[in-house]
Amino acid sequence: MAKQNIYDNETFFEGYKELRYREVNANVLFEIPTLLSLLPDLKGKRVLDLGCGFGEHCKEYIDKGASRVVGVDISEKMLKVAREENSDPNIEYMNIAMEDIGTINETFDVVISSLAIHYIEDFEGVVKAVYSLLSDGGIFIFSQEHPMNTCYSAGTERWTRDENGRKIHANIANYCVEKRYDYSWFVDGVQHYHRMFSTIINNLADTGFRIEKIAEPYPDEALLAKYPDYYDNLHKPDFLFVRSVK
Ligand SMILES: C[S@@+](CC[C@H](N)C(=O)[O-])C[C@H]1O[C@@H](n2cnc3c(N)ncnc32)[C@H](O)[C@@H]1O
Repeated sequence: MAKQNIYDNETFFEGYKELRYREVNANVLFEIPTLLSLLPDLKGKRVLDLGCGFGEHCKEYIDKGASRVVGVDISEKMLKVAREENSDPNIEYMNIAMEDIGTINETFDVVISSLAIHYIEDFEGVVKAVYSLLSDGGIFIFSQEHPMNTCYSAGTERWTRDENGRKIHANIANYCVEKRYDYSWFVDGVQHYHRMFSTIINNLADTGFRIEKIAEPYPDEALLAKYPDYYDNLHKPDFLFVRSVK
């Protein structure tokens, strides 16, 4: 199945890096706090991070007591930053696609993937591979673009706005059409895969995972008072999180 490596595109990479290094972004406000709140006690645990990017999370898992962390990513550029900025004797970075983790001859207690699963065409295959790599009772936690965001392609307006430009509702179409959508983010032709919420959950359940927690972070009053522009996350959350156990 097709695998796009858009993070190795120079223009995309520079745009993404600039966004991630901003003091305030959706990762900082919503994604990272929610992910951390879903983590089990990592002391002595073997952790696999799928789509580890700059490796910030891998380092965080070591700081939280993990005994070993393997970070895999399809992008050499992302891993170069990871190796330079977030290396540790107990972290191994591997330049492989997460579709190919079946080649890793190792067992993990926790598999985590932060905002990368929506790039995968064969979700069912990756879920099965994760299940095989996990020890009994092992935990699989992932975040992805919320399914309300993935049924979106270039050329469609994402929002309906009032006369002052304020977003009054998200434009959602074809939620039930599961396929690859191509959109523009720093460059044209960025590919992500839309799956309905039910498909995601049923795939996990059919593979043998028990769903423990779902999270859809949104801004509270305190956050909105400080960062009012994030009111649009009340119309629809940016991210979906699932924590499940083998
Ligand atoms: C939005 S970034 C998230 C990075 C990191 N997990 C974080 O939260 O900071 C998505 C990452 O997934 C990686 N990725 C995309 N498709 C992949 C694939 N098929 N296999 C492995 N990594 C992939 C990208 O190269 C990129 O580093």
